[in-house]
Amino acid sequence: MSAVSVSTRDGIVYRLRNQLADGAVLTSPEIGERYSVDYTGENAQAPLAVVRPGSTAEVAAVLRTCSEFAQPVVVQGGLTGLAGGATPRKGEIALSLERLNGVEELDPVSMTITARAGTPLQAVQDAAADAGLLLPLDFGARGSCHIGGAIATNAGGNQVIRFGMARNLVLGLEAVLADGTVISSMNKMLKNNAGYDLKQLFVGTEGTLGVITRVVLRLAPRLSSRCTALCTAESFGNVVDLLQAVQTGLAGSISAYEVMWASYYDKVLEIVETLRSPFADPHPFYVLVESEGVDQATDDERLESVLASALESQLITDAVIARSENERQTFWAIRDGVGEITPALSPYVPLDVSMDIKVMPRFLESFDRALAAELPNSLNLVFGHLGDNNLHLFVTTGHEAENDRVLELAYGLVGECGGSISAEHGVGSLKRDFLHHSRTPKEIDLMGRLKQALDPRGILNPGRVIPS
Ligand code: FAD
Ligand code: LAC
Ligand code: ZN
Repeated sequence: MSAVSVSTRDGIVYRLRNQLADGAVLTSPEIGERYSVDYTGENAQAPLAVVRPGSTAEVAAVLRTCSEFAQPVVVQGGLTGLAGGATPRKGEIALSLERLNGVEELDPVSMTITARAGTPLQAVQDAAADAGLLLPLDFGARGSCHIGGAIATNAGGNQVIRFGMARNLVLGLEAVLADGTVISSMNKMLKNNAGYDLKQLFVGTEGTLGVITRVVLRLAPRLSSRCTALCTAESFGNVVDLLQAVQTGLAGSISAYEVMWASYYDKVLEIVETLRSPFADPHPFYVLVESEGVDQATDDERLESVLASALESQLITDAVIARSENERQTFWAIRDGVGEITPALSPYVPLDVSMDIKVMPRFLESFDRALAAELPNSLNLVFGHLGDNNLHLFVTTGHEAENDRVLELAYGLVGECGGSISAEHGVGSLKRDFLHHSRTPKEIDLMGRLKQALDPRGILNPGRVIPS
């Protein structure tokens, strides 16, 4: 869709200012740079205007007006996305959820929390913790991303191995369609098979089918004990065998299994000067294992015993167990250090792929070979949520113009391996043209038909997710 003319833009902005509270509509120069790009920093573009509704009714009013003018809208949460989905395209109005913020209710009986979409993930986690409960969704962007953005992208993170992705936690939600219709599915019940599960239309569809305004999430009892270890391994095969050993040995209590290849581990320690490796020697693989339960002494004993067997059978070569929360946070700071190193890597490509663990070595070898042959200056940092079949590869060649080639090489191989081009970050605009590597033409056609049915004028996040 092409950009609207200046007079039409002024008409829309005038109408929106009349419909919304004071200060809700920003235009240049008040906009600044904040709303121009997501965390990738790629393809920054100032929006035509920024609207910041403070209620569901205001979101509906914005979308009704934009629909009437066929005005394209980009939906923005905390802008921590890594797929370009929230980055404006020329001529779009940015609809930011930042003023639709706050926890509305915590129900200890149904063990649910109800929050507005623009509430930061960490604020929802904290509200649950204050009530002695746990929101089992966590990742490095917790302080800035919105709960609405996390659900719109069906975010994963560090506890998926135990609790599943964001989708598993959503019991209900409210969303506004492109024409301003409010769909309220604020269900709190664990069981509800009365007709289509409409909330799923909005989970993981990255704002292309509707704007999420409120959510009901399922909480878990807070676990009172936690054990964390950082281990070293000498081969990928050993890392996979260790995963099986801890899954069995910690039966049901494992809550994270994060693997860092030396490429990533060494780079984080090099760039983030405050971090120190607890190991004297370098190793090809580092594994962060965490278990959570209800009895510290028993849990410590189980983890120690699993790791002692792993050392004995040489699955691992070294291991340190965190003896304090401070030490635990040091291990996690290395794992989550990715959030701090991206400025130094820029321009970079954040790959987020999943595949059968058995084919990972073939994929990684082929990809490294292809990079060495075509883009010999590449740096490929590998880490990920291995227990979820999810690899992150942050690749930089130093030249933005080469990013597309990196994507072509990687996604071609992902397709050959039967994997997914997006394990958790979503497709957005950056991966849209590669979707065919992971989805059949009929699947993509059905996505297009759903889009057409819910957003016939194509105003919501156009050009994202579905190839044109
Ligand atoms: P944005 O970036 O603002 O938007 C992302 C997409 O969702 C866009 O398409 C946008 O249009 C849409 N959207 C946002 N809000 C709404 C809404 N209310 N209704 C409809 N659509 C909406 N992701 C993971 O899955 N796992 C991780 O482990 C992880 N770790 C990260 C670590 C770091 C340091 C960073 C920077 C990012 C990480 N991410 C991770 C990616 C990102 O944080 C998540 O995708 C997050 O859920 C995005 O939320 P956001 O509010 O910032 O959304
Ligand atoms: C992580 C992000 C990059 O796992 O998904 O840190
Ligand atoms: Zn991740």
